Parts: sequence; structure tokens; C-alpha cells
Amino acid sequence: MSLALAVGGVATALVGGRLVLAQRSVADRSIFLLGRGLADEAALSARVGAPVGRFYGLAQRALWGILQPDLIRADVDGACAALAGELGGLFASHVVIAFVRRARGQAQAADEALARARELARPEHPFAHVLPSAAEWACEAPPVALEEVVPGVLWRVPVFYTHGLVPFHEFAYATVIRRRSGEVVLLNPVAMPEAIAAEIRAIGPVTHLVTPLKFHNLFVAEGQRLFPGARSFGVAGHRKNPPSAHLRFDGILDDRAPLFPGEIEQVAIAGHQFEETVFFHPESRTAFVHDLIFGCQPGRPGYTFWWRLYCLVFGIHDGFGVPSYHPMLWTNVPRLRASVARVLAWDADRVLCCHAPASAIEAGGREVLEGALGWVRDLGTAEHAVMVGRYFREQPGFLRDLLRYLVKQGG
Ligand SMILES: [Fe+2]
Repeated sequence: MSLALAVGGVATALVGGRLVLAQRSVADRSIFLLGRGLADEAALSARVGAPVGRFYGLAQRALWGILQPDLIRADVDGACAALAGELGGLFASHVVIAFVRRARGQAQAADEALARARELARPEHPFAHVLPSAAEWACEAPPVALEEVVPGVLWRVPVFYTHGLVPFHEFAYATVIRRRSGEVVLLNPVAMPEAIAAEIRAIGPVTHLVTPLKFHNLFVAEGQRLFPGARSFGVAGHRKNPPSAHLRFDGILDDRAPLFPGEIEQVAIAGHQFEETVFFHPESRTAFVHDLIFGCQPGRPGYTFWWRLYCLVFGIHDGFGVPSYHPMLWTNVPRLRASVARVLAWDADRVLCCHAPASAIEAGGREVLEGALGWVRDLGTAEHAVMVGRYFREQPGFLRDLLRYLVKQGG
């Protein structure tokens, strides 16, 4: 008994010691601008003219409470009141409030909040790109077309869609890959006009519909309707996740049996609730990433208001990175690290991100991925635990929400 107690005491001391070391090693890291330091956060606060950590905390509560009310019981009104009260001089606070009001059908209050945001905004402000255009505020969807990215090999189709109560458009891309055989793979199928589906069929027979992560499920059935001869592939989580459990998949992505050996490489990102598989086409040096990283590059066309605001609120306003809620969804850091290291070893030049225009990363993709994900490859398990602990301390309700989410997922 005394030996067991002694062993337990030593183990506790070792774990405690490891956490203390981890605490020290990540003490200067931002939990909102992932991969960056508190010094970067302070510098951004100086440029923005307000404490961005406080803005992110409140804006995240407000947005999550609107976007995922089934999972996250945020005090949206309280967050909006705090944004207006504590951070009322920051125009982006009023953009968030305007978004919330529109999502709740309070058009006049939304217009007033947006007018206040426009009064306060300056063109040179680091967040200025988030303001909606008149067409975006009117919720007009841009036209869609099949876009050729690599002649004869890669194309993309955008989809602009709304979800839940929010009237503003999210957007995503499907990627068309023409294989050496002439057969066509549709990666991340989306809804599209029949005319575009016909253009894709003219490229070659569509044999595979690949939905590369658990939380993409809206358009699986539509893809199957448009391309009935193709086989559908998803990830294991699709069969368990309630919104996708009813969908038909003919196969499950598995690195041990790649779908297109010698032609398209694939890496399942392990230890991450998203269960995303990332792909790489060596001949065109193109990597295909869906939700592993998000991006926002002001000035590039194609990012909708919804997406610019979402990225801003989750810590991405000037490039590509990991949104600030992802670490909460990491379940096995050593496995995650190993997966990310395999992705970063690819000789990628172009990176096609699902929620970013094709023009976003045209070259130097490996360096962009390294900048966004290198810190994840190098993150220790204890350091991750400390960062998540700090996040929950900032957003205490999210621990309860995460547990509820895990129960709903059955895992
Ligand atoms: Fe996504």
C-alpha cells in the first residue's frame, strides 16, 4: 500500500512538474491568434485601438451562440452588450452586433449597428476588410462558374449557401481532379447548377465523390444525385455523426489503402475531431485542405462577408492559420503531430483551401502551410493541455459545451 502511494505520489509530482514546465513554455503564446505570441496580440491591440483578446472572447460567444445554438449556450445578448459597452469604439464590435441582429430578424437594429460600424471604420484599420458590401448585406449570392485552376487537370466549383437562421452566405468549393486515366474525382461535392454538372461530366466520367471530413455533409446526397455513377467515400465519423449518419457511403477513407496510389497522396489528420483527410497531387504540386486551416487574405475576391467575419472572430484576419477553437477539438496530440508532419513534408506549391478562393495560395504553399501548422507539429501534449486550460478559463462555458457536443457525437 505504501509503495503504491509512493508511486502515485511520484507520478503526480512528475505530471505536475511537466505541467509547470509546459505552463512556462506556452506562457507567451496567444490563445486567440494561434501560432503567434502575446507580443503579436499586444501589437495587434495597439493597431486596432482595443484589447483584441477581449474582442475575440466576446465576439466568439456571440457568433457561436448564433451559429450553433444547439451546442453552445452562450449569452449572446450579454456578449453584444459588453461589445457595445466595453468595446464600443471598435467598429468591428458593431459589425458583430449587426450580424447577430440580422440573424435574429431584427433588420432595423442590424442596419443601425452596421451604420455605426461604418461611421467608426477607417480604411487602413487591420479589420476593415470585414465590412460587408451592399450586395453582401442584401444577401445576394454571387454567380457561380466552373473555374479551371490547372489546365486539363484541376477545376473548382464554388457554392454559396446559407445555414440555419443566418441569411448571409457561407461558401465552399468542390474540386474536380482529372486523373491520368481520364476519370474524374470530385473532392468535397457541392450543390451546383445542372449546367455546371454537365460541364464536369464532359471532362470525363465522374467515378469518385470524396467528402473529406466529418463536418462536411450538406451536399453529399446532392452530389450522388448529380453523379449517380460515382462511388462515394467519407470518413469514419460520417457514420456516427448524427447529421450524416443517414447518408450512403460506399467506402471510408483509410491511409493504409489510399484511393489513388501513385497518383494522389492522402493523410488522415488523426487526433482531431474533424477527422479530415488532406490530399496532395504531386504532378501539379497541389495540396487540398478543407477545414484544417482557414484563411483570410484581404483584397482577394471571393471571401463572403460571413466567412470574413467568421475568420476574423476566430483569430484569422491576415493570412492562413488554425482557428482559435481547434485545440479544444484535438483528442490525441502525438497522433495529430505525426499527421501534420506528413502534410508539411509534401512539396506543395499550390494549396487549394475549401473555404478560400483558388487564387489564395498560388505558390509557396509549403511555406504557407509551415507558417500555419508548423507550431502544431511541434506542440507537446502538456503544452496543448495548458493552452486548452487557458482557453476554458477565458470561456468557461465552452468546457460544458464541449462535453455536451462529445456526448451528442457518441464519442
Ligand atoms: Fe468546412
